[in-house]
Amino acid sequence: MTEDNEAFLEAYLSARKGLIDSALNKYMPAEDAYPPEIFKAVRYSLFAGGKRLRPILCLAAAEAVGGDIETVLPIACALELIHTYSLIHDDLPAIDNDDYRRGMPTSHKVFGEGVAILAGDALLTAAFHLLSRQDLMAGLDPRTLLAVINDIAEAAGYSGMIGGQVVDMQSEGKVPDYETLHYIHSRKTGVMILVAVKSGARLAGATEEEIDALSEYGRNIGLAFQIADDLLNIDGDPILMGKVTGSDKTRGKMTFPALIGVVDSHNKAYQLLDMALAGIACLDSKADPLRLIASYVLERRS
Ligand code: IPE
Ligand code: IPE
Ligand code: MG
Ligand code: MG
Repeated sequence: MTEDNEAFLEAYLSARKGLIDSALNKYMPAEDAYPPEIFKAVRYSLFAGGKRLRPILCLAAAEAVGGDIETVLPIACALELIHTYSLIHDDLPAIDNDDYRRGMPTSHKVFGEGVAILAGDALLTAAFHLLSRQDLMAGLDPRTLLAVINDIAEAAGYSGMIGGQVVDMQSEGKVPDYETLHYIHSRKTGVMILVAVKSGARLAGATEEEIDALSEYGRNIGLAFQIADDLLNIDGDPILMGKVTGSDKTRGKMTFPALIGVVDSHNKAYQLLDMALAGIACLDSKADPLRLIASYVLERRS
């Protein structure tokens, strides 16, 4: 990435993160609502400092096809609620048993397992509550919105993210094979990234051709994102990432580096980046932020 592009992207990501954070703050109940423990736990994880990549992609996809980002903002935020819930549950002792996330002790470490499980449940439910708020969705075509909610529910569910998480768990300690690994990575991480891009495009009135192009982009960067996460688990800086490294190896996780090594995993991620960019070659300069985000997905250190 050139220095100019890097500077543009940094400012762009920071402005979008600010927009998303303040919308999330507005949509979520105050910390002292009753019973305070659950609202505290929800806000603790939500505002611990995530990159907001999925909502940013949702807005950028809308922007790429000439849409209005304010209209899409509540849907983008709902995706972050689902993502944050998935992290709280992913870190539980029964799943990855991690103590740090987003630079802070994990939810179960602070609030106990019971409240952490319920905070995840609350965030998932809050996402669909937000998606069905008529006051916020007034500017959207109801049939399109329903189709988007259907896509999001499918992506988050048993044939999407949950399916990936189950196979990820069941594959610990097993000899990696490409088919299983592809299933895990594209489901546990890829589909939520894909649906973020697709939803933004669809809500912004994209044509079927544009949706196909953006889906190709989303599918490829979704998988590349998880390969980058695997690589960062090996050579990332735990301080920058806000989570521990080395844990995939300790737990015997099925990862790309475990299957094909670090160098080939790196190459594979860059091949996926090329495919993502080729997918949106038909879109004009309004898709430039998406192009830069695709490189960021691989070059990020956090
Ligand atoms: C971490 O996602 C979990 C994966 C799906 C790899 P992010 O790296 O987007 O985490 P935050 O939201 O920035 O904390
Ligand atoms: C997390 O995958 C995927 C979901 C939360 C759905 P990982 O377990 O590989 O991600 P990190 O490394 O804990 O963030
Ligand atoms: Mg996991
Ligand atoms: Mg994990």
